Amino acid sequence: MDRLLVTGGTPLEGSVRVGGAKNSALKLMAAALLAEGETVIENVPRIADCLTMGDVLAHLGARVRWEGSTVTVDTSGAAGVETPYELVRRMRASIVVLGPLLARHGRARVAMPGGCNIGSRQIDLHLKGFERMGAEFTYDHGYLEATASSLHGAVIWLDFPSVGATENVLMAAVAASGTTVIENAAREPEIQDLAGMLVEMGAKIEGAGTTTVEIEGTGGGFEPVRHRVVPDRIESGTFAMAVCVAGGNVMIEGARSDHLEMVLDKLSDAGADIQPGDRGLSVKMADRPVSVDFVTLPYPGFPTDLQPQMMAVLSTARGTSIATENVFESRFMFVDELNRMGADIRTEGHHAVIRGVERLSAAPVRALDIRAGAAMVIAALAADGTTEISDVHFIDRGYEDLEGRLSALGAEVRREAASPDAPA
Ligand code: EPZ
Repeated sequence: MDRLLVTGGTPLEGSVRVGGAKNSALKLMAAALLAEGETVIENVPRIADCLTMGDVLAHLGARVRWEGSTVTVDTSGAAGVETPYELVRRMRASIVVLGPLLARHGRARVAMPGGCNIGSRQIDLHLKGFERMGAEFTYDHGYLEATASSLHGAVIWLDFPSVGATENVLMAAVAASGTTVIENAAREPEIQDLAGMLVEMGAKIEGAGTTTVEIEGTGGGFEPVRHRVVPDRIESGTFAMAVCVAGGNVMIEGARSDHLEMVLDKLSDAGADIQPGDRGLSVKMADRPVSVDFVTLPYPGFPTDLQPQMMAVLSTARGTSIATENVFESRFMFVDELNRMGADIRTEGHHAVIRGVERLSAAPVRALDIRAGAAMVIAALAADGTTEISDVHFIDRGYEDLEGRLSALGAEVRREAASPDAPA
């Protein structure tokens, strides 16, 4: 298992280009199953999760071709309906092939996704939505067997504005017979990106990005298209928070500040000089951050995927901050790792109290999930000494060449390949 070695103390200067959004690209790749032929998706980040989604599609009989950040998915003759546990355990988001498979074949056999380090990650809202549309489910040795002789429109109320449930149901509803209304739908920009591509393919969707999405099912017959993935707002926020910890002056090229309003508001309160512009987002930080309170909520609230990174910023802030995590039930697991670096954070249920300290100190720490790993890198950028971060494969799932891009901004970050006899 590779490690990252990060030596703190160097401000970040220069510009970095943000990649395509992981949490859109994965669903756009799955949506290719709705059309027969070659769908071309541009600006796909070359990260482990997108490679895994390529493996899922290949397992279903599609031919997946990468050329730089452009992925071509040829679904001609793709007859597979099974997504094996080996792939789902690698990436639980594989479950979003369920909607397209029900639309394409009327059936699917998908391994049940397990939980992960941030929560139980239920899929009950996905299944309830599909059942409303006429699908039936049975369970067989850890697999979900889904059948839908015909999908029909329905009114679906989501108990929680689940991103995945909104997307999965949307990808089935576009091919159903009749009209589907999703109430309390998730509003994330990635949902709008997916709906945009589906409409380009011939789907009829109104209201994507609002809490009520209305879909007039066409019964299928979608055309393969070429579509460019929306910029990754979580990656943009991650780089902005890196500047807030390390100090410096960075242009995040291609960043969409209109997708980050709550985050940029909080970073400004913390003392950052944020300048949105046509080229992207300029972030300057000359002093130590100032404490701010924040609460994670579904979009347009503060995104849970930037909660760990924000905690890293606040761990060295002047004053005490209070963070509340409302989306996942156990997304503070990484706090123990931050406290090993000298942070003073106490958690109680969904709340965390962060008493800012002058400076963190290097210590061997682990990346517990994609965003917690990014938070450890950020914390290490201003820590005293060289921090060793292990389990870097989590970071590689969500960030393309994070160490190379931070090094290009002046950070002292290098990857150390694990020696063959290193303990796993
Ligand atoms: C997506 O996960 C993202 N992943 C997550 O990003 C992100 O944190 C999350 O949305 C929230 O924004 C991808 O898009 C691949 P949810 P998803 O369904 O769809 C509960 C990252 O690091 N829930 O909105 O799984 C669930 O347990 C990842 O990039 C149910 O109870 O998120 C959670 O508490 C981490 N039943 C909450 O809703 C369901 O059927 C939010 O889940 C579905 C969800």
